[in-house]
Amino acid sequence: MRIAFIGDIVGSPGRSMLKEHLAKLKEEHSIDFVIANYENASHGFGVTSKNANELISYGIDVMTGGNHSWDKKEVVALFDTHEILRPHNYPPEVEGTGCKVYDVKGEKLAVLNLMGHYAMPMCENGFRVAQATVEELHKEGVKNIFIDFHAEASSEKRGMMMLLQGKVSGIIGTHTHVSSDDFQIAEGTAYLSDIGLTGCRDNVIGMDAKTPLKQFLTGMKGHFDVPKKCKKILQMAVMDIEDGKCSNAYKLKVFDNGNIIKTDAWIEL
Ligand code: FE2
Repeated sequence: MRIAFIGDIVGSPGRSMLKEHLAKLKEEHSIDFVIANYENASHGFGVTSKNANELISYGIDVMTGGNHSWDKKEVVALFDTHEILRPHNYPPEVEGTGCKVYDVKGEKLAVLNLMGHYAMPMCENGFRVAQATVEELHKEGVKNIFIDFHAEASSEKRGMMMLLQGKVSGIIGTHTHVSSDDFQIAEGTAYLSDIGLTGCRDNVIGMDAKTPLKQFLTGMKGHFDVPKKCKKILQMAVMDIEDGKCSNAYKLKVFDNGNIIKTDAWIEL
């Protein structure tokens, strides 16, 4: 199967890039299944039901979340009706789940959403939850496993790779909104510390630069806004997975002028 992963979709600029490009990318790259992170999709904070339906209509199969999953309260109802996950290491009494198994071309694919520890809400230990969940999935005969690891620290993301290398098909980080340059495949596990945002590529991590600059210059906090006009980018990882192993992977940076930069993941021998 060939799956694609899109990181943090930030506000209407991110949604508009998907509207414009996703269907074409799916067709041109023969993508069977699309996973994307929704946690900043509605003006930078959470997702409304209207925007969730809109994103699904553009061709997303399942959406993953993070620390902003609950910013729009209506998301809770969507956990039962839509393919929308939240980090699996929130305590069990919290609504929703962070792990679901899907049928892709007659094969099982588990999508597991986890959250890191540094600068994140207090939750269960993501590493222990990851270990236990992957073990459980293997017992159930699920080999193809993709993880969106929503974390601030690249050291935690790298640690997750060291923990699960050879046991899952892919681990890609989200949350920083800034893409890293370490896409690789080791022991059949694709790994990228952060895929980077889909939205405004100028300003500050997808948000209007005015508020963060005021904060950095004066220490005064303010409300973050998504710019109305900006330069946009769509960032997507594509992975070929068979029998639990990723054999080939690449990343696409799609610019709003139609230019595309393709970068292959390197394979560790
Ligand atoms: Fe986040």
